[in-house]
Amino acid sequence: MINNIKIIGYGSCMPSNIVTNEDLSKIIDTSDEWISKRTGIKERRISKGESTSDLAIAAAKNALDVAGISASEIDLIIVATSTSDCFFPSTGCTVQSGIGATNATSFDLAGACTGFIYATDVAIQYLKAGRFKNALIIGAEVMSKVIDWNDRGTAILFGDGAGAVVMTVTDEPKITKVYTKSDGTKSEVLKLKAVPIIDMYENVKTIDRSTMTMNGQEVFKFACNVIIETIDALLANTSVKLEDVDYIVLHQANSRIIEYVSNKVNINIEKFFMNLDKYGNTSAASIPIALDEMYKKNILKSGHKVMLIGFGGGLTWGGVLLEL
Ligand code: UT7
Repeated sequence: MINNIKIIGYGSCMPSNIVTNEDLSKIIDTSDEWISKRTGIKERRISKGESTSDLAIAAAKNALDVAGISASEIDLIIVATSTSDCFFPSTGCTVQSGIGATNATSFDLAGACTGFIYATDVAIQYLKAGRFKNALIIGAEVMSKVIDWNDRGTAILFGDGAGAVVMTVTDEPKITKVYTKSDGTKSEVLKLKAVPIIDMYENVKTIDRSTMTMNGQEVFKFACNVIIETIDALLANTSVKLEDVDYIVLHQANSRIIEYVSNKVNINIEKFFMNLDKYGNTSAASIPIALDEMYKKNILKSGHKVMLIGFGGGLTWGGVLLEL
């Protein structure tokens, strides 16, 4: 038997420190006008000491409160992140300990900005197969650790934060469709290199930080194409039409990408939830942060059909069509 799945909890945690476009224009050659017009971003949260796992733990606790289940009932924790505090223990294990999820299997998943979609897919497969019952899926990033603050092409885009959902098995019939892809040949377009600390043969010793590099225009074109591809793939072989979808939550990267997609598929922009003006691009965290905000605004209703779509480094992309 293949189980049905539904989301029962939403949570998020954002650093309290707000950095406006105006603030950024004091440290790099940019302006509020340029950033607002080209990206839609007005401000972002930048960690002052909060680690990726601190944010993930707080988001997880909020999601568990909403779900009304205890941490010990969680069987699976997946944290999508590119900015884990440590290579090991995983942020998943740190979250497990932080919330007391004594019965969980916990790990991280590296899918860049598509990470939350990949993690949701993995959780769905486990739950559908009956291996686990309750999954905690988290996207958490402290992007400010990996930004080159001298590069105005990337520094203005990103922000820090974490979002989480609790997903469970249900008897109610629910639509669930997943689509994921990657293209490793385009790895140079968006890259964050790991830091070599010690090389045994070269005797290289460095504590230099590695920072992200991006070809913005390439990513922009790629994003516009793969979002349309993903929408088509999610609807294929289902009875669902795009007009039946209540909300489309795209990875929050640039309002111009979202506006392009809205025009291209001829669906009112109101159906595309956006909060990137407040948080910028929080990579793997952007979709669950958006979901939590939608939950708090009380706009998510049981039976709603919601499409979640991510894209990013790898290159990676994909989406999930869910019935709430
Ligand atoms: O999670 C996935 C991650 N990434 C994305 O989704 C990013 C997708 N790409 C984008 O959002 C856009 O490509 C950017 C916002 C990054 C850049 O916008 P753009 O419209 O593609 O600008 P551009 O790179 O073509 O640059 C246009 C001009 C250039 O000046 P010149 O050569 O025309 O004189 C840039 O030097 O704007 C300049 N510029 C800036 N000016 C002020 C680039 N960045 C800035 C800046 N402030 N921050």
